[in-house]
Amino acid sequence: MTIRFRFLSLIAIALVALLARGASADSSPFQGGLPLPVFDTASAPATPAQATPATPPQKDDGRFYVGQETCSTCHQQEAGNWAHTAHAKVFNLHPRDAKEEKNCEACHGPGSAHVEDPSDFTKIISFSHKSKTPIAEQNEQCLSCHKGGQRIFWHDSIHDQNKLACSDCHNPMGTFAAHGLTARESISQTCFSCHKEQHADFAKRSHMPLLEGKITCTDCHNPHGSATAPLLKADSVNELCYTCHADKRGPFLFEHAPVHESCLNCHSPHGSNFENLLTTPRPVLCQQCHSQDGHPAQLLTKGNLPHGPMPDPRLISTSCQTCHVNIHGSNDPSGSRFER
Ligand code: HEC
Ligand code: HEC
Ligand code: HEC
Ligand code: HEC
Ligand code: HEC
Ligand code: HEC
Ligand code: HEC
Ligand code: HEC
Ligand code: HEC
Ligand code: HEC
Repeated sequence: MTIRFRFLSLIAIALVALLARGASADSSPFQGGLPLPVFDTASAPATPAQATPATPPQKDDGRFYVGQETCSTCHQQEAGNWAHTAHAKVFNLHPRDAKEEKNCEACHGPGSAHVEDPSDFTKIISFSHKSKTPIAEQNEQCLSCHKGGQRIFWHDSIHDQNKLACSDCHNPMGTFAAHGLTARESISQTCFSCHKEQHADFAKRSHMPLLEGKITCTDCHNPHGSATAPLLKADSVNELCYTCHADKRGPFLFEHAPVHESCLNCHSPHGSNFENLLTTPRPVLCQQCHSQDGHPAQLLTKGNLPHGPMPDPRLISTSCQTCHVNIHGSNDPSGSRFER
């Protein structure tokens, strides 16, 4: 009688154990929120990421992927913020390959060693200021998915040379801006965090409407690198300006040589305290290159100033352009002096 009872209870225990194993096979070993830092490689396939046999767990340092659920047990807040980003949407809903299915670990690398010893920052690929991961290695994590395209000239670009990390401008851990995952609320604010001088320039009396939100630094620059210094988005300064100021491209019957050469002969792109972004006010602007040769050789005196008895047009209002109006070029048959 006692033997039979014992036999039955043994079967019952075995059944319960079997059922329990079956259940845990497709759920995390940390159910119940227990952040157990204990790992058994053999039972690791418990994470959903392992469902794809295509990529075996990464072998270096014996680290392997533990899955987002494990990360979330300790990093609930980060996981919550991240869930609203462009990455989370693609990685969770439409992963295109096994790497994207790794979620957190697609960027931070396999996390097993970190889970065992979270206090040692060398055991996880990290991007924050406390990071112990070399910048080149951080950037390679991002570039493994974002090679080419806008980043075709990243390597050896001035930002790369100055050891910028992708995360100096991007923060993929939350949505801080409408698009581009920029670290600040807008593209320009992101750039201003380092480029204070340009911030001051755009606040000058004459400036293109960047602070007003109509254009951004990346309309003219590619922060990821370019074949044209300084990080310009076009093949030359003029080609860049023509993208928005097409009327200045010509062709003109009479070209003004310095315009054709470079708009920067007369304009400061970021801002100027002289009207129309001019580098120097007129007439000095023109007189940097032109002597008074073609004009009546009269001496300009105090009396020729606007409020004097004999005001001279060369010193009034738009100065030289009172007569030479079409300074960017003329298509008039008699416009060789840009007067029409
Ligand atoms: C057992 C709890 C635990 C788990 C599980 C865990 N972490 Fe951590 N993690 C920590 C602790 C604690 C720190 C140290 C925080 C500090 O000191 O600022 C940390 C730090 C980090 C850092 C560095 C933060 C920095 O400021 O540079 C990253 C990145 C990180 N964890 C990512 C992950 C990822 C990805 C996973 C999943 C693979 C994960 N963690 C799983 C506890 C955990
Ligand atoms: C697209 C790449 C990417 C993914 C995916 C990603 N992270 Fe991060 N993570 C980063 C970067 C970059 C930073 C540094 C942000 C900064 O500049 O402070 C970071 C920072 C962190 C930090 C440090 C605290 C902080 O906010 O700076 C923790 C912890 C962390 N991530 C955990 C996670 C967890 C957990 C997940 C998954 C839910 C995850 N990360 C997914 C790129 C990623
Ligand atoms: C596993 C692949 C993968 C990794 C690693 C990765 N990304 Fe992405 N990234 C994507 C995908 C997928 C998208 C969204 C779809 C798209 O437009 O390609 C995306 C989008 C972005 C966007 C555009 C977001 C938007 O709103 O338009 C930025 C910026 C970005 N990633 C930066 C980073 C940075 C910085 C890192 C490294 C910290 C990184 N990514 C790591 C795959 C990845
Ligand atoms: C100096 C700042 C800066 C650095 C450094 C930087 N980015 Fe960007 N990145 C930007 C800005 C600003 C945008 C938004 C551009 C736009 O929308 O016009 C952007 C856009 C992107 C996009 C979305 C547009 C696209 O190309 O598909 C991706 C992806 C991206 N960056 C990845 C990276 C990666 C990877 C790195 C590191 C190798 C990196 N970025 C380094 C400023 C930067
Ligand atoms: C983390 C700091 C940092 C951020 C953010 C940053 N830059 Fe830079 N940038 C630098 C450094 C450092 C240099 C090289 C030194 C210099 O010329 O000022 C540089 C150089 C440049 C240059 C080339 C200067 C030259 O003489 O060739 C341009 C253009 C530029 N950055 C544009 C941008 C734009 C646009 C953004 C925003 C999308 C941006 N930067 C964001 C640090 C930064
Ligand atoms: C309308 C186009 C345009 C916009 C918008 C623009 N830049 Fe520039 N930027 C240029 C041109 C053109 C140059 C080359 C100037 C030269 O060679 O003298 C330049 C040069 C630079 C340089 C090199 C140093 C210097 O001042 O000559 C930096 C740094 C820079 N820009 C940063 C920025 C930042 C940051 C923003 C956004 C706040 C920005 N630029 C917006 C056209 C632009
Ligand atoms: C992304 C488009 C864009 C590019 C590229 C661009 N501009 Fe502009 N520019 C504007 C806009 C918008 C205005 C304002 C027009 C208005 O208010 O009617 C403007 C205004 C100007 C003005 C008049 C400023 C004033 O005080 O009235 C000058 C001069 C100028 N741009 C020169 C240039 C030069 C030189 C370049 C090349 C380095 C350039 N722009 C490239 C968009 C652009
Ligand atoms: C020789 C000097 C000089 C050069 C070079 C020059 N500009 Fe100008 N630009 C001026 C002067 C002076 C004004 C203001 C008076 C006027 O409207 O003609 C001006 C005004 C402008 C304006 C605002 C008024 C308007 O006509 O729309 C724009 C935009 C402009 N320039 C764009 C350019 C572009 C783009 C280039 C290069 C292709 C360029 N400039 C080259 C002297 C120059
Ligand atoms: C960077 C030098 C430079 C600046 C600044 C400049 N020019 Fe010129 N300008 C030239 C050159 C070079 C020519 C062509 C001379 C030639 O073909 O012999 C020229 C031609 C002219 C001509 C036609 C002269 C002729 O002989 O056909 C006039 C008129 C003129 N410029 C007026 C102006 C005015 C007005 C300004 C100021 C708004 C100005 N220029 C600014 C360099 C400059
Ligand atoms: C009152 C009208 C007027 C003003 C103001 C004026 N010009 Fe002229 N400019 C002319 C006329 C008219 C000619 C043609 C003279 C000729 O064909 O002999 C001329 C010719 C020129 C030429 C061509 C010279 C040559 O050798 O053929 C240049 C260069 C020039 N002006 C530059 C300037 C500059 C620079 C200023 C400002 C300091 C200026 N002009 C102001 C009317 C003016």
